[in-house]
Amino acid sequence: MGDNLLSTGHSSRLFERVYDYIINRIERGEWKEHEKLPSVRLLAQEMNVHRLTVFKAYQLLKQNRKVYVKDKSGYYVYPDSIMSINDSKDLITSSYLQKNHLSEIHRVPVTYQFSQALIDPNLLPNLYMSEYVKKVFDLYPKVLGTYSTVQGDEELREALCEYFLKRHRFHISADELLITSGAQQAIDLISRIVIKPKDTVLLERPSYSAAIDAFQQQGAHIVPVDIYPDGYDLEQIELYMRQLKPRLFYLNPTFHNPTGYTVPSGQRKRLVELAEQYKCLLVEDDPFHDIYFDEEPPLPLFSYDTEGYVMYIRSFSKYVAPGLRIAAVATRSSLMKHLLNAKSLADNGTPLLNQKIFLHYFSSVRLQQHLEKLRIALHIRKEIMEEELAGTGWKWVSPKGGLNLWIKIPETLPMKSLLERSFDQSISFVPGTICDPLREPNSWVRFSYSYINEQQLRDGVKRFVELSQGLESSF
Ligand SMILES: Cc1ncc(COP(=O)(O)O)c(C=O)c1O
Repeated sequence: MGDNLLSTGHSSRLFERVYDYIINRIERGEWKEHEKLPSVRLLAQEMNVHRLTVFKAYQLLKQNRKVYVKDKSGYYVYPDSIMSINDSKDLITSSYLQKNHLSEIHRVPVTYQFSQALIDPNLLPNLYMSEYVKKVFDLYPKVLGTYSTVQGDEELREALCEYFLKRHRFHISADELLITSGAQQAIDLISRIVIKPKDTVLLERPSYSAAIDAFQQQGAHIVPVDIYPDGYDLEQIELYMRQLKPRLFYLNPTFHNPTGYTVPSGQRKRLVELAEQYKCLLVEDDPFHDIYFDEEPPLPLFSYDTEGYVMYIRSFSKYVAPGLRIAAVATRSSLMKHLLNAKSLADNGTPLLNQKIFLHYFSSVRLQQHLEKLRIALHIRKEIMEEELAGTGWKWVSPKGGLNLWIKIPETLPMKSLLERSFDQSISFVPGTICDPLREPNSWVRFSYSYINEQQLRDGVKRFVELSQGLESSF
């Protein structure tokens, strides 16, 4: 057993492999906090290595505060040895290039939170929400005593159909809508029902990192499509559709995450035509549509769809109540029945209480009032971030909506050290590699201006600029 185990380790030196083996067992909860670990002699025997090798591994574990020594009686698991802040930081900075999970970055608690594309809870209608909670219990006293249907609350779906018709000219019925627990679940369900290993999927480059992860998890062959400030190269897309026959193209054409770019309406129409011609499903993810600063963005691609080649995901998580996790998927295609099947396997329906609370807030005049104020607040925050970056010479395209700045920093700045030093200064951001479907190193970073208040925003960006300049001059 020992030989086998050691030969599969990734670390090159023997004692490091023993170290990894012990960490692994602690991580899996086999050895718990304050539990005594096997003696050097026993472990050496079990793993078929020299005692000194195990001793060396234990010394390193002790040094890294994974284990401690008690009364000379042996080694014990250090409390929080796996999840302590420093550990998680090391884990993240060393592994982000390999794992690329956005959630790894979000795990580090920091003061200057630029990595999460979330809206400051102080800008959300929390107080009003509590009124709606009360109202929902008065209106539906048994709301917690029952499930929602798998497809989602009918009253909510009807209300959303009306809204989509008025706002975006979607002619759909409630049967063509599915309520999901956030857009993330929608992406996951779609990837499960449409993608089989080795299917070609087109993804924007850069793209929303968790969508890359979802399609990768299905074993998709991912082909990147560059997105520019004025949209895509449609000839390139047509070529890919003709030659590679992709199953789907996942896109976020409005205030795109991470770049903030918006695809113009002419391209939207043409894309739908191409999708029909080459039978490629367009999965349009549109969580930022309402978060514009001056002008409403163009109509969604779904507005041009008549043949069922567009699937539209609309999250209301960001600007109403992230905690409710409400999103909707619109589709005219026969894929709805597969989606329903996948949704029932995933969770049998989004919690009814959440849907009802959302419905009553969403149908009230307060939503529009909230959005108007929110747009102004976010616009101001974006401008503050831009003001603080103005002297750096770094490049970005000023977004007209959304939550992020996509910034090109000097190529001479080493990303790993930059991230490490930022964490040390309690700053987080998203390295561009995480947003690249090919995960290639690059010198882009995503900074969200939506989560922290104006003063923190100024202080945080100033600190980041200073530390970057310090780092640059040390190379
Ligand atoms: C493009 C995009 N899609 C989906 C999501 C996830 O949204 P939700 O919170 O509704 O799961 C995000 C969140 O940042 C996003 O940026």
